[in-house]
Amino acid sequence: MRRAKTLILIILVTSWLGSNSPGLAWGPEGHRIVAVIVQMNLTPQTQQRVNALLGPYNSIAAISSWADDARVDFPETASWHYIDIPLDENKIDLASECPQGNCVIAQIEKSEAALKDPRTSEADRRVALKFLVHFVADLHQPLHCEDNHDKGGNMVQVVFFGQPSNLHAVWDSGILRHIKPYGNQLATELAQRITPGQRQQWVKGTIEDWALESHWLARNIAYKRLPQGATPELGEAYLEAATPVVEIQLEKAGIRLAYLLSQALQ
Ligand code: ADE
Ligand code: ZN
Ligand code: ZN
Repeated sequence: MRRAKTLILIILVTSWLGSNSPGLAWGPEGHRIVAVIVQMNLTPQTQQRVNALLGPYNSIAAISSWADDARVDFPETASWHYIDIPLDENKIDLASECPQGNCVIAQIEKSEAALKDPRTSEADRRVALKFLVHFVADLHQPLHCEDNHDKGGNMVQVVFFGQPSNLHAVWDSGILRHIKPYGNQLATELAQRITPGQRQQWVKGTIEDWALESHWLARNIAYKRLPQGATPELGEAYLEAATPVVEIQLEKAGIRLAYLLSQALQ
């Protein structure tokens, strides 16, 4: 009995800590949704190569949040999940915003190159695949491509449907939790409504173009739609503006990642 109580306490405390930790990325749910969309868009050949790398007991969904967990043991990777493009800018300055390749754009390119290079060891290819899967999803979270002197919205306190939160966490996971259906069913629905025309359009452009698209959404939706006030109260009106953005960004991330994998694992 005592042990059961201790166990419950541990579960409560860890889940509380998890829900309040500063925004890492899309929460695990966002990454899992992107992974399901990727799975539904891989060619058999690419699927086979992914399987060969990950082994029989793993899947894209299972490894999709590994990079967030890896930040504990490898703190030098923390800045690889985002790029701080100033909110009022409309271009990227890699020299100042991506010093020594420490940003999400450079790390996507680095992982792609490692996967393409036949000299990369099996172990390094596996790591590159795990980073690529995670960072392409992160790039599509609008607040991972901006900074307004607020750590990508992490410092912006808000109230979201009556709960104290911050703007970054609202975009990592808060909005997603309010979309119905949830989980795999949402992923399937999002994947099914992507048209062949969208698929063709979305794979065009560079990683930088995709980052600027994300950045534009941060400025024109995430920040512009904030109600006035020291601690903005976000509810239905904000959710209505944000939901289509979150959905399209998850869809784009899935299609683009499937495309990058097919290119990298020729
Ligand atoms: N820390 C600093 N800037 C950030 C951003 N844009 N996204 C996530 N974490 C950050
Ligand atoms: Zn985040
Ligand atoms: Zn991340």
